[in-house]
Amino acid sequence: MSNEKKLIIFDTTLRDGEQSPGASMTKDEKVQIAKALERMNVDIIEAGFPIASEGDFEAVKAVAETVKDSTVCGLARALARDISRAGEALKKANSSRIHTFIATSPIHMEMKLRMQPDDVLKQAVDAVKLSRQFTDNVEFSPEDAGRSELDFLCRIIEAVIDAGATTINIPDTVGYNLPNQFGNLIKNLIERIPNSDKAVFSVHCHNDLGLAVANSLSAVLNGARQVECTINGLGERAGNASLEEVVMAVRTRQDLFDCDSRLDTTQIMSCSKLISSVTGFPVQPNKAIVGANAFAHESGIHQDGILKSRETYEIMRAEDVGWNETQIVLGKHSGRNAFKTRLNELDIELDSEEDLNAAFSRFKALADKKHEIFDEDLRALMADSNWSATNEQFKLISLQVCSETGETPHANVVVQVDGKESSASEYGSGPVDAAFKAIEKIAHSNAELKLYSVNNITSGTDSQGEVSVRLSKDDKVVNGQGADTDIVIASAKAYINALNRIMVPDADRAHPQMGDV
Ligand code: KIV
Ligand code: ZN
Repeated sequence: MSNEKKLIIFDTTLRDGEQSPGASMTKDEKVQIAKALERMNVDIIEAGFPIASEGDFEAVKAVAETVKDSTVCGLARALARDISRAGEALKKANSSRIHTFIATSPIHMEMKLRMQPDDVLKQAVDAVKLSRQFTDNVEFSPEDAGRSELDFLCRIIEAVIDAGATTINIPDTVGYNLPNQFGNLIKNLIERIPNSDKAVFSVHCHNDLGLAVANSLSAVLNGARQVECTINGLGERAGNASLEEVVMAVRTRQDLFDCDSRLDTTQIMSCSKLISSVTGFPVQPNKAIVGANAFAHESGIHQDGILKSRETYEIMRAEDVGWNETQIVLGKHSGRNAFKTRLNELDIELDSEEDLNAAFSRFKALADKKHEIFDEDLRALMADSNWSATNEQFKLISLQVCSETGETPHANVVVQVDGKESSASEYGSGPVDAAFKAIEKIAHSNAELKLYSVNNITSGTDSQGEVSVRLSKDDKVVNGQGADTDIVIASAKAYINALNRIMVPDADRAHPQMGDV
């Protein structure tokens, strides 16, 4: 594919996606996701913001050391210390990119940076020059470009391209633009900036008005050749442009687009499920491409049409985005070897034989209750921190609930706290409410429950329920997950998982777009 025909896919699930409250990921989770993105042929993986904390630095470094086929990118404000930290984290990458940015809209320059436009321009140029000392692949973003003045944008972009920026990314940081307007902005920039042919133009759209994908597509129709996006549209506030929607729109409407990505779209579903289970952000059933109903044809008229000719109502094939990939992989009679092999295929690593044995017994227990074990079941089983060898503060030991018509539901719970068992009983409006109250009676977290959601992992009433719980305390927001064929137990596990995260003091972590480190 020639360069003009290639649409570069820049995935920022691990950076902007992770900025979503409660969506923080561990280093191992980030590496697992990066491998899945690499398998899908994502061109560039933005692995994080290395200056944010020691943990962020280590995660970017680990991704850079693992991924071979995709370029690994680190974010840096236009500050020397950010850029050298990113350069350090990316040192061992096969192919690396530094993405440096500074705000260019009047409101951001005046209120956030308290800087004059000329000083912003100089800082941007210096940042790009410094970044080039670490890699020849440098991206520059004028933050809040969607609300910036066109003349200033042209001036700063021309200067950073002269300084060595190879990609110019135009962010609609606050999701304010409309598709026509944003497409015109890209067209104008490319036409007006004299050296625009020396860089790839990219876009980065937020979804505050539900237009992130539409704006990205309009930009591509007007000359952008890189789109920044996230799996499931994860991201701050209403999220970023969804990778699967952008990629499938361009692939499906090749009659209108003169470029295409090189993505293996059959990997989309497994990436979507992985992100959802790691972050605890469920995918809404009517979400395009990856929602449970995206290819379900309920109405009789539609089914009749589909049976005669699938094109009557289907513009894409479910199998092209990986919907039919799910097979029964294991069952009651599967042995330890088959179990271990499948975990390896799913990039799930176990640290020791002891961990493998423990995981295998949990698998056997699940297979006794649920005869067909799918990949999603395995992922949920392995993500279940209640059983993992790590020294979690709280562990669920047992739960008994009583729920009867006409009676107030009641729960008895035994939780291990720092190795010591405690029990508590509580009434509630339902069995889950009673269980949470009983657990809280032991934990004394004073955390506030912000979200509770249950999803079935596979189909059928024997499916495991996957529960997400979001807690907030002071300024901290965390998500917890739990899975079990019994959804009350799954709920208790999710609540305890969230408690374990909220009670651990956070290392100081800088947000790239708020204030200074
Ligand atoms: O939304 C935004 O402006 C960003 C920049 C850091 C590119 O995420
Ligand atoms: Zn963003």
